[in-house]
Amino acid sequence: MKPTPPVDITHNYDEYYRTGLYKHRYPTPNEEVFALVVRSVEEVGNRVLDFGCGNGRYAAPLLDHTDARVIGYDISRVALDDLGARCREYRDNGRLVLIDGDLDNFTREAEPQAPFDLALLMFGVLGHVPTRAGRLETLRRVASLLRPGGRLIASVPNARRRFHAEQAASRERIERGELEPGDITYTRQAEDQEITLYYHLYTPESFVEELEEAGFLVTALEAESVLPESGVVSSLLLRGIDRLLGAVLPVRFAYGFLAVAERDAAVAPERAPHDSGQPVTTPSPVPAEAG
Ligand SMILES: C[S@@+](CC[C@H](N)C(=O)[O-])C[C@H]1O[C@@H](n2cnc3c(N)ncnc32)[C@H](O)[C@@H]1O
Repeated sequence: MKPTPPVDITHNYDEYYRTGLYKHRYPTPNEEVFALVVRSVEEVGNRVLDFGCGNGRYAAPLLDHTDARVIGYDISRVALDDLGARCREYRDNGRLVLIDGDLDNFTREAEPQAPFDLALLMFGVLGHVPTRAGRLETLRRVASLLRPGGRLIASVPNARRRFHAEQAASRERIERGELEPGDITYTRQAEDQEITLYYHLYTPESFVEELEEAGFLVTALEAESVLPESGVVSSLLLRGIDRLLGAVLPVRFAYGFLAVAERDAAVAPERAPHDSGQPVTTPSPVPAEAG
């Protein structure tokens, strides 16, 4: 049996944002990761694709603190409306363009804006795309919109650290072929309703493998955070502790994995409209460790 998306992710993410629960849990970007994004704009160029931008947790401060021009795509219209309203001046001056709809609509509307220097898939966006084939297709489309040598920063949830009860509950559905290995559904309580979402959970190896199969060269793999993201983005103390833990613990203990990758020019050279002429530099985060 072919695995099917088990929930209406667009509708449910709309509700996650509409109820304010997402903003309550994740009011700001992860500062360490944001610093990496800012450095990347300086290193590889300012044409940024924020794929799965949500309500602009990264896009909005990026527009404020750099000269980035951002194309923000998300399946949630509610999230995009929030971002658009907060960043009206950037939409008016053309530095922010928002795209909604499905992957085909994204590709159609993003192609004229390509090539990009930097693509972001921040905080688990990739894990919400149903099926491995779907995630590979998504990554390939992103790769095709990056200039050769363009950079990807993506983060995904660690199966070892997240959703243990849900992983146990998914076993039978995986055996029946309704879900793929690594897939779960989980529920968040917002106001008086339950919001159920689909998620694919990763190991360091499966994350790197997926990126490489889609045409990326992974240059670094590190912890997005070690403590839960909601704590790290809400408390200075937890942020400090998280930084220390991230420096000493192997990446396999991360709450989420953060990969820095380059578009492999040898894999998908024909789709990039032109080279920006920007120098390609080695990214600065900690070296890869896939243990
Ligand atoms: C955990 S949120 C991350 C949002 C934002 N990147 C951040 O760091 O706050 C995941 C986002 O992925 C979006 N999403 C889920 N499936 C998607 C898909 N197939 N294509 C694009 N975005 C998707 C959701 O609507 C949501 O905004």
